[in-house]
Amino acid sequence: MEYVAGIDIGGTKCAVVLGRRAGNGEITILDKKAFPTGRRPYSEVLDEFFSTVEEILSAQGVKVSQVVAFGISCGGPLDSKRGVIMSPPNLPGWDDVPIVRLFEERFGVKTGVQNDANACALAEWQFGAGCGAQNMIFLTFGTGMGAGLILDGRLYSGTNDMAGEVGHMAMRPFGPVGYGKAGSFEGFCSGGGIAQLARSRAMEALQMGGGVGYCPDPASLDGITARSVAEAARQGDPAALEVYRTSGELLGEGLSILIDVLNPETIVIGSIFARAHDLLWPAAESVIRRQSLSYAREVCRVVPAGLGEQIGDYAALSVAVYTASQR
Ligand code: BGC
Ligand code: NA
Repeated sequence: MEYVAGIDIGGTKCAVVLGRRAGNGEITILDKKAFPTGRRPYSEVLDEFFSTVEEILSAQGVKVSQVVAFGISCGGPLDSKRGVIMSPPNLPGWDDVPIVRLFEERFGVKTGVQNDANACALAEWQFGAGCGAQNMIFLTFGTGMGAGLILDGRLYSGTNDMAGEVGHMAMRPFGPVGYGKAGSFEGFCSGGGIAQLARSRAMEALQMGGGVGYCPDPASLDGITARSVAEAARQGDPAALEVYRTSGELLGEGLSILIDVLNPETIVIGSIFARAHDLLWPAAESVIRRQSLSYAREVCRVVPAGLGEQIGDYAALSVAVYTASQR
């Protein structure tokens, strides 16, 4: 029996997942424990990872020597060849962390790290909505915005792992900040970006003397999240609908570029897109119809992630499987 361990490092939450791999490649998730990342030194987060791994292994009666590989999925920029997390915008303070060496020293098990979007792309490609595609793009659309590219049937990471860092693309000269840059793709298409759009829309309305449905008074400004705005939009709040329409339009612009440049057959989008498909897709689709090359558009389907809330677990385990296969 082969065991694989997944380490999911997110801007908001972290998780350890233990999986068992069958001969046919199927993965069964045996156990999982999540905890908040928090704004704290990365060494504290690592200690929590180490103790959580030990807890899960002993709870499942698995010896660390039975684990064939650890797979770490983490927001970039990172260097998978050197095993170093460089300076992720959504993990402040995690600068030049030699994450692979730290895990290998601790557990003595082969370890690999991949950009979270690449990891999700591998997971959706093997187990989710991208099964069987030769050319597939995965977009995170969560805390951050990143892409994982499967091209000609294999993961494409670029010259130094920067392929798919689409959150950094400049979409507008001004706008919500994402990836440290105003008006970027991540600025418009991420959880924090949607909240920023909603906050500035609400502030305008408050300055004019009125509020908006999701923010009737100044005291409600701090409580604005992508989720609360989505709820208001589903109640028909026009300002909330407009915020999602804007994010959807910018998503459509970004997707049109990706469709024209990479000519994928499938684009899979996770997290917020999967949860708010009804609010984002109509606006995105109409932009794609106007902006992308018809020959490329007609062969491309855009779908929400198939693995739902389990995508992060399968992503980290997919990195472990990938790492084991690189031996
Ligand atoms: C990071 C990407 C990552 C994405 C999703 C971006 O801010 O730079 O590497 O894939 O967020 O977490
Ligand atoms: Na990527």
